[in-house]
Amino acid sequence: MFTISGQLSLDTAHEALVIGIFEKNKPLDGIAAECDNRLHGQISVLLKEGDISAKNKQISKVHTLKQAGVKRLFFVGLGKEEKLTFDLLREAFGKLFKTIKQAKLTEVAVALDTFTTKNVDALDAAHALAEAYYLATYEFPGYKQKKNEREKHINSITVYTEADQAEIKASVFVGSVYGKATNSARTLVNTPSNLLTAADLADYAVRLAGKYGFEHEILEKEEMEKLGMGALLAVNQGSKNPPKMIVLKYQGKETWENVIGLVGKGVTFDTGGYSLKPRESMIDMKTDMAGAAAVLGAMEIIGELRPEQNVVAVIPATDNMISGEAFKPDDVITSMSGKTIEIRNTDAEGRLILADAITYAKHHGADYLIDVATLTGGVIVALGVHTTGAMTNNEALFEQLLEASAETGEFIWRLPITEKDKERVRSSKIADLNNSPGREGHAIMGGAFLGEFAEDTPWVHLDIAGTSVTSKEHDLGPSGATGVMVRTLATLVERFE
Ligand code: BES
Ligand code: ZN
Ligand code: ZN
Repeated sequence: MFTISGQLSLDTAHEALVIGIFEKNKPLDGIAAECDNRLHGQISVLLKEGDISAKNKQISKVHTLKQAGVKRLFFVGLGKEEKLTFDLLREAFGKLFKTIKQAKLTEVAVALDTFTTKNVDALDAAHALAEAYYLATYEFPGYKQKKNEREKHINSITVYTEADQAEIKASVFVGSVYGKATNSARTLVNTPSNLLTAADLADYAVRLAGKYGFEHEILEKEEMEKLGMGALLAVNQGSKNPPKMIVLKYQGKETWENVIGLVGKGVTFDTGGYSLKPRESMIDMKTDMAGAAAVLGAMEIIGELRPEQNVVAVIPATDNMISGEAFKPDDVITSMSGKTIEIRNTDAEGRLILADAITYAKHHGADYLIDVATLTGGVIVALGVHTTGAMTNNEALFEQLLEASAETGEFIWRLPITEKDKERVRSSKIADLNNSPGREGHAIMGGAFLGEFAEDTPWVHLDIAGTSVTSKEHDLGPSGATGVMVRTLATLVERFE
């Protein structure tokens, strides 16, 4: 897909050449000035008249009308030079690739050095370019008998740069890995639950383990019974599909220490159980395993890039169904930790399966825990659909995650867990915990509940109920699953200290 090259010339044949331009009141320079000369000063005129815009994320197309080997020029507006960030650049590239895809071009060249600033170097730009290409052009294949007329796809991107080519190549590789792994997660989330059961999710994880040499373990129901995973088993009780507890281990250090535990909610479909969801709220509940998908996507990146870290991924997988066997409100169950839980609402099932998964991650030596889950509608009310809710018991771990998320552009914002909140999840009269102490601050109740199982282990909870799926197409992808937190989790692991 990507070729790295040194000499950029307007006389090389390309369907299109992509050039970044900043808003400034100076004459054009570099390759843009060369284009301007070749086209008899017309680029300057178009810029002045606003037909080419240097404003952030504006894409302008100009034909060279046989004046050059490159047939078309795409100018990517980058706004004010000092304001450009890695994140904005990735979005600008995303918009570019959407435009190029729509124009049905198959081959483009990019003048990479026109996208760099003091803050964003050629390596950043190369990463952003590759990642944006995969993210922005992603499509879920779907199941229509008649596939859309096989559209032309971009199949070659030549990257021109004066920077070290081996380094640029490596950066393009990293960006590609990040983009592709996010797309893997998107596809898992977009897949309907009849085609992606807990067993299918486990098979996927085993294939991933095979590809990257991860140690893996898939717990079956009988083993869960022996281990006393009463919370995961309770949620699965109404289902014909057996539950799976999926464990992947990546050892990047000599010894199994400083282990980062990534725990992802894998509810393949959430009907709500006997606390049944209303019909409109049940739609899209195939996406209730987006936390699991985020963890698997991050493991794909870890498998490709092999950082010097130890990681254990734990995914509790089941659907939440009704039947004569299903668990019910008022039931009291015993989790693997020994803590008993009064069920007040069978629709608060995510925290139950995660409770056992967190305990099991600690059992596998996790010294730090990050859980990712489509846990509550409450987080959508609190933070909307562009910001993931975070809760923590450890400032330092949270800071690291915040830094990673600033780099990936996957925004997170912290909600508090106070002693009063803890009292509420401990408010059951007949058990240690109450799985649904009422609607007030219920995103926080979800987090506080999980905190009871993390105990003293540094832990961050990420509620992605609002951010895992989008109803609108965006610069870095179509509507549907976003693959949120794949890149942030992987960045955290890579940078972790
Ligand atoms: N899977 C849902 C949360 C959800 C809601 C995800 C909307 C994506 C979009 C979760 O299991 C759930 O049902 N939570 C309840 C919790 C309540 C019963 C305490 C909720 O948010 O209403
Ligand atoms: Zn639910
Ligand atoms: Zn759920």
